[in-house]
Amino acid sequence: MRVLFVGDVFATPGLRAARAFLARERDAYDFVIVNGENAAGGFGLTRKHYRVLRDAGADVVTLGNHAFDQKETAELIEETPRLLRPLNYPPGTPGLGAGTYDVPGHGRICVAQVMGRVFMEPLDDPFRALDALLERLPDDVPLVVDVHAEATSEKKVLGWHLAGRAAAAIGTHTHVPTADATVMHGTAYVTDVGMTGVQGSAIGMAFDEVHARFRDFRKRRFKPAEGTATVHAVAIELDGVRARSVRRVVWRHGDDEPVRIHADDRTGGCDDGR
Ligand SMILES: [Fe+2]
Repeated sequence: MRVLFVGDVFATPGLRAARAFLARERDAYDFVIVNGENAAGGFGLTRKHYRVLRDAGADVVTLGNHAFDQKETAELIEETPRLLRPLNYPPGTPGLGAGTYDVPGHGRICVAQVMGRVFMEPLDDPFRALDALLERLPDDVPLVVDVHAEATSEKKVLGWHLAGRAAAAIGTHTHVPTADATVMHGTAYVTDVGMTGVQGSAIGMAFDEVHARFRDFRKRRFKPAEGTATVHAVAIELDGVRARSVRRVVWRHGDDEPVRIHADDRTGGCDDGR
C-alpha cells in the first residue's frame, strides 16, 4: 500500500498548493492523509477548508493543538470519522482520535493522532493512549500515527515507542522539515514532515508581527504570510502492517516535478539491538 502524508497545510497559500499537488500526485497513492489544523489562517479548520482537502483527495484530515480553534469544528468532527483530533484529549472530547478505513484493493488502514505534552497542553499520556489503541487493533491493520508535538526529543521517543509496532510515526506541528526520515524496525519515522505553506515566514505567519511580539511581548494579531507555498510530504510504502520505505517529497507550487528524497539510514535508524 502506498500512503502519502501531507504536512500541516497553512492558510490559503498552503491550501492552494496542497490542492494543486494532490491534483497531480493523488493517483500515485492508495491512501492520503493531510494535516489540516492550520488551514483557517493558521488556526484550525472550517467546514469549507475540510471540504477543499477532501475534494482534493485527502482520505483523512488530522488536526492538533488548534483542533477546536474554530467554533464549527466541534460539530463537524462529530459528523465525520475522517477528521481526527488528538487521541489523548480527555474522555468526552468531541470526535475521534483514531479511525480505521477501507482501502480498495489493499484491506484496511488505521490512522491516529497523538499530541505531545512538552511545551504543550498537559493532555492525557500519549504513550498510554497508543498502547491502548494497539491493544485493540487487529493484527492485519497497519497503523499510521500523526505525532503532533513541539519537542524533538518527545517525538523521537514516541517514534521509538511505536517502532516495530506501527507502520509509521510521522511528526507534525513544528512546521520545519527534519532530515531524519528513516525506517525503525519496520516503522517509517520522521521527526517533522514540514509545513505545506509559505516557507519564508515565521512558520506560516508574516514575519513583522511575530518579530515585534518576540521583542516587546505585546499581543498582536498575526497575519498569514503571502506568496508561493511549498508542499512538504512523506511517501510511505507499506508491506502488510510495516513500512518498506519512506521518502520525503517536496514540491514548490508550480514546479514541474517534486523532489523525492530517500531515507538516509546514517541520520535515523534505531540501532538498539531490538
Ligand atoms: Fe500544531
